[in-house]
Amino acid sequence: MNRLPLFPITTKTDNNLLTIAGHDLSSMAAEYGTPLYLYDRATMDAAVTAYKSALATRYPASASVTYAGKAFLNLAVAQWTQTHGLYVDCTGEGEIGMALAGGVPREHILVHGVNKSNADLTAAVKHAGTIVVDNLTELERIADQFPTLAPHASAGITSYHLPNIWLRLLPGLAVETHHAHTQTGQHDSKFGMTSAEIMEAAQFCKANKLPLNGIHFHQGSNFRDASPLKAAIELGLDLAAEIGFADGWHFSPGGGWGVAYHEDELPQPDADEYVRVIAESIIGGVQTRRLSLPHLHLEPGRSLVARAGVAVYRVGAIKRRGKKVWILTDGGMTDNPRHAMYGARYSCLTVSNPGGENVEKVSIAGPYCESGDVVIEDLPMPKLEVGDLIAIPASGAYHLSMSSNYNGSRKPAVLLLEEGQARLIQRRETIEDLLRRDLGL
Ligand SMILES: Cc1ncc(COP(=O)(O)O)c(C=O)c1O
Repeated sequence: MNRLPLFPITTKTDNNLLTIAGHDLSSMAAEYGTPLYLYDRATMDAAVTAYKSALATRYPASASVTYAGKAFLNLAVAQWTQTHGLYVDCTGEGEIGMALAGGVPREHILVHGVNKSNADLTAAVKHAGTIVVDNLTELERIADQFPTLAPHASAGITSYHLPNIWLRLLPGLAVETHHAHTQTGQHDSKFGMTSAEIMEAAQFCKANKLPLNGIHFHQGSNFRDASPLKAAIELGLDLAAEIGFADGWHFSPGGGWGVAYHEDELPQPDADEYVRVIAESIIGGVQTRRLSLPHLHLEPGRSLVARAGVAVYRVGAIKRRGKKVWILTDGGMTDNPRHAMYGARYSCLTVSNPGGENVEKVSIAGPYCESGDVVIEDLPMPKLEVGDLIAIPASGAYHLSMSSNYNGSRKPAVLLLEEGQARLIQRRETIEDLLRRDLGL
């Protein structure tokens, strides 16, 4: 099975050598060391374009793409979002800080969080265009701690200067993902408010003159069947009608559209299909409820950056234990905890022999002191030798943003690749970085 469609769109295997945007992966590994993360800008740009053109054809009112920063955020990525005019979903003040550093304007900063701290809320009120409120307590805290919000709103200052308030609905409906830990919309989830709580929150906003103008939900991450969105959209529209939103209201069915991680999952899910289901449901739904078409916000993270990212590891040792062949590499659960956390499946190619014939099943494990430090299990591969480089596709989302310093590991360098240019956008961490916060005895 061809693994190339898992890789960035500029990937080539001419002369049996893996290149991305014309850059040879072995030279980059030699220059920057391994583990190394490479992002292909053309793949990121193409993913945004796919969403935007689907929205332009399928949705007749205003619509925006919001990049979910939790997938992978740093200075360069925040700056990149503004080359496309994206909104950025920030979880708390840390991501707000990164977005601001990258020049994301206030009206494009949207703040999520299931239990926002006072610091998160303060940063949101100061810097964000929208706060997505997760629960009633949070709403009460906003009203208590920022009483200036309501008088400003009632004094007629436009909501542009204040964060809009959206309410996060728990639809009680999950999408199908590979693991329960990537579902968020099911009835017993920790996220969002039930329909009854949403109505209570809406009344609270009215009584306290909070600038409520939107509804959001997010059902899960990495799904490829969009149909469960329909019922959740219906529910969201019911609530919007009951609240009585005026023209110009906002509706966000979250993100979560999937990508292929393994050749078994090809072809890549089509963003147009996802947008079609959402657009048709909303267009049909508003007609029967005498609501105006909302400003539609899509909130993809993974599907904008996962395929663009490739992790490059070097093989340091090989062990044969019964039927198990362990390929021990210098990358593992500290840069990619997804297999350890919820059994995510991956595939890979060897950098210097991507067309090689598969001869045995191998498991790729990292150097860390955990048996669960495994990234790939039982994948057919060509013969591998100590010193070989492997390239793992679909590594752009929820790897580095969930990375750790376990065992004193230092987070890898990150390069942004374009034809004719390989830019170091994040240097490898050093031992000084590990000690930076320490004060000693
Ligand atoms: C509120 C919200 N929006 C968007 C996303 C992005 O999901 P994905 O990266 O799967 O598109 C998430 C991810 O968990 C989320 O919690």
